[in-house]
Amino acid sequence: MLQLDKVSSLRETVMEWKRAGQRVALVPTMGNLHAGHLSLVDKARQKADRVVVSVFVNPLQFGPNEDFDRYPRTYEQDCAYLREKRVDAVFAPSVEEMYPNGQEQTLVVAPSHLTTILEGATRPGHFDGVTTVVNKLFNMVQPDVAVFGQKDFQQVAVLKRMVEDLSMPVELIRAEIMRDADGLALSSRNQYLDEAQRRIAPKLFVVLQSVRMAIESENDDFRALEATATQQLLAEGFDAVDYVNIRQTDSLEPVDSAGENCVIVAAARLGKTRLLDNVLVAPH
Ligand code: PAJ
Repeated sequence: MLQLDKVSSLRETVMEWKRAGQRVALVPTMGNLHAGHLSLVDKARQKADRVVVSVFVNPLQFGPNEDFDRYPRTYEQDCAYLREKRVDAVFAPSVEEMYPNGQEQTLVVAPSHLTTILEGATRPGHFDGVTTVVNKLFNMVQPDVAVFGQKDFQQVAVLKRMVEDLSMPVELIRAEIMRDADGLALSSRNQYLDEAQRRIAPKLFVVLQSVRMAIESENDDFRALEATATQQLLAEGFDAVDYVNIRQTDSLEPVDSAGENCVIVAAARLGKTRLLDNVLVAPH
């Protein structure tokens, strides 16, 4: 497995593969890899001859009071996992290599109706940081396919719009959420939870599934379902609920009946840790 930290050597490597007619997949990550990330690598492997995983904790997508400094960095362990998965190359640039002109950067900005709602309402500028770094990674790697997790549902919706609107020649794949045995969606931030919080955390998935079942049994009062779910999460011990919303899967606009593809998205807090989860609902 190649370990690259310079754009120039990455480009040379990819160019050789492409000259040999090979398809290239990219899996962007911020490292501290777990089974969720590794499932994206498996998906990428099915879709391409060569797999590149990027590991870069992107300062541009963190707010001033967020966890950029304490975000867990476990590069050696990450490489060990990726080697086991027979990844072809890991690309782990420094901040200077990624942003040679500093953080005052040309930005790629998706439409605000997608980026200022839900996660974007709590994290202003977050998605501008994500679209900008992913655009840069696409330009550096020039992948045929890129794989992202459904775990960050809004992130995929925003990136899909970027790819469509800017006619980027890359296929985006959305890979399903990997969970612990008790249903908690795997996340690098789960390790911030103490024992008591860790016991409460899986209730998020339980409550979202109960909303899905209510929709599937034709309960059409979506605003009431959202309010009830919020109350249930608070009763289970969550300290705050940022949102539980039933939204259209592509536009992320509120929906009022189950005639369309929809997704139940949620963010809730245990102490300082924000947990995200979502559940898709099939139309009926
Ligand atoms: P990060 O949080 O490291 O996640 C990298 C990828 O792993 C994302 O596509 C995310 O949705 C996926 N992922 C996380 N937890 C998962 C789980 N439990 N099951 C399946 N996939 C999961 O998301 C980012 O990094 C960054 O915003 C990035 C796209 C790399 C841009 O900086």
